[in-house]
Amino acid sequence: MKPIALIGFMGSGKTTVGQMLAQEVSKPCVDLDEAIETREGRPITDIFATEGEDYFRQLEYNVLQEFAREDVIVATGGGIVKEEANRKVLRHDFLTVWLHISYETVAKRLEGDTTRPLWQQPEHVKRALYDSRLSLYESCAETIVEVDHKSLPTLIKEVKRYIT
Ligand code: S3P
Repeated sequence: MKPIALIGFMGSGKTTVGQMLAQEVSKPCVDLDEAIETREGRPITDIFATEGEDYFRQLEYNVLQEFAREDVIVATGGGIVKEEANRKVLRHDFLTVWLHISYETVAKRLEGDTTRPLWQQPEHVKRALYDSRLSLYESCAETIVEVDHKSLPTLIKEVKRYIT
């Protein structure tokens, strides 16, 4: 079976869902952002600030590819779909599930967040980023699961239905 990739905008719960799902189906969960930070020995905010986004995207591509042949659940970063190369890998090598969340719910969840460089921007820029990502998620997801108004157990149950 292909590895599972959880995709979706920042704050959609990819890491939380990935970890809980992994326990239920007895597979390891890999958080790509965490893997990048471990390898680089510094937080993503530092990588963005010193090397820039393009460099981060290259690291993201490297780790995604690395897990493309492993029996794991991968929690991706919200911008993984930005690069066509990543979208290709997600389509071909993973069973990709999109955790679809509304902008309003993201804004509530990420209020005061300082750990995500692309969230530290004016409201209209963040909303434009959100809008621009929707069709990209859609283009590589095999399945969409709605996040808004759902409890975590319900969400897990729905994702599990698609992957088992
Ligand atoms: C990003 C999302 C972040 C992280 C980085 C860039 C994005 O991951 O990869 O800050 O471009 O949307 P989360 O979706 O886990 O917050």
